[in-house]
Amino acid sequence: MPHTTPYFDYHDGVLHAETTALSSVAAHYGTPLYVYSKAALLHNFDAYADACSGRPALVCYAMKANSNLAILDLLARRGAGFDIVSGGELLRVLAVGGDPRKVIFSGVGKSVEEMRLALSHDILCFNVESIPELHRLNAVAGSMGKTARISLRVNPNVDAKTHPYIATGLKASKFGVAFDDAMDTYRVAAALPHLEVAGIDCHIGSQLLDDAPLLEALDKLIDLIDDLALEGIVLHHLDIGGGLGIDYGEAGEAPPVPVADYLGRLFHRIDQWRRERHDGVPIKVIFEPGRSIVGNTGVLLTTVEYLKKGEEKNFCVVDAAMNDLMRPALYQAWMGVQPVQPRSGTSADLYDVVGPVCESGDWLAHDRILSAEPGDVLAIMSAGAYGQSMASNYNTRGRAAEVLIDGATAHLVREREQAADLFALEKVVK
Ligand code: LLP
Repeated sequence: MPHTTPYFDYHDGVLHAETTALSSVAAHYGTPLYVYSKAALLHNFDAYADACSGRPALVCYAMKANSNLAILDLLARRGAGFDIVSGGELLRVLAVGGDPRKVIFSGVGKSVEEMRLALSHDILCFNVESIPELHRLNAVAGSMGKTARISLRVNPNVDAKTHPYIATGLKASKFGVAFDDAMDTYRVAAALPHLEVAGIDCHIGSQLLDDAPLLEALDKLIDLIDDLALEGIVLHHLDIGGGLGIDYGEAGEAPPVPVADYLGRLFHRIDQWRRERHDGVPIKVIFEPGRSIVGNTGVLLTTVEYLKKGEEKNFCVVDAAMNDLMRPALYQAWMGVQPVQPRSGTSADLYDVVGPVCESGDWLAHDRILSAEPGDVLAIMSAGAYGQSMASNYNTRGRAAEVLIDGATAHLVREREQAADLFALEKVVK
């Protein structure tokens, strides 16, 4: 059974995004092509927003997952905040008129310039990851006559049970402040004159298929908030990070959906704690979801170039490659592959779907049964998160164009890069 969603489904034998046939989009804009569904995007964001309604909460979309301006604009107008990890990402938020007072700044290596930029726009909070960063931020804020609101990213040392490259909450991780050092680090922060201690945050990993580690992390943060309060360090927000997994269609994979259930479990625990120990005074809850907002709102369309019989394997060579979508090469990630117009007359074969880049690691899918002919268009499913945002120009390949579908209308939201664009900043030495 092909893996479909309400927004990417077959009608009359052709895969559609909403009511637009992907065959015509591919023919018009060419491939490789990222195609997003506006309705899917808003649906996913609304699932978070609705679950938070009536509470002090903020959904800060982790824009590293997909930072196309069209996507940011739709989310900003829907009320989203943003989780950024660079000055460049802040400039994208500003470019779409997003509210910097809803921006939180994550990351272990914030530069002085990035801090200045963020302070000059009065962002909501810096998620600080080390004592040296506290000192740097204090100095930068002081030099600007400002006070920086901060939260400490605490590493709760829970096993997120995901791929090691996207697990971030274990002791060996470069991220966050060790749980055992958190109290002392808060004391340092509270004593610095140009910092205002506002909250606490954590992010334990990505593509989590079980929310138990998230709830375990929450319990640890709760204990810490109580201990800090005893010392007079009162926190006003609790940021549980992102990380909720999505269904990529791989057999046996079951993420904790719907989002409302996961949030319900978190809020239940938080409410219980506030009732027991804080006279029910609410604490603001912040979320940093990336993949669960945008992952299944996009597909990558690619055209079959050649079918090649190898000695041990058959290869379906397509025009998209690891530079367009590096999740398989980097994390051995499983991505669904579906024909845009399934054939009935052609016999099916077992293929590795590979790209034209000169690396053995350049594959998009292993061991898939496909009935395909050269010229056919395939859709790499659920490629909306960490697809285009991680794309590179390796092999001097221009990055793919991007299209946003709204009902029966396709909007080009990023043009295809041309080779000349790629070397425009380079110079030969005479
Ligand atoms: N907050 C922080 C501090 C993060 O580092 C991340 C993701 C997020 C939020 C959003 O996590 P999400 O809700 O998307 O799981 N490139 C990898 C994923 C890397 C995630 C990095 N941090 C992939 O393609 O699987």
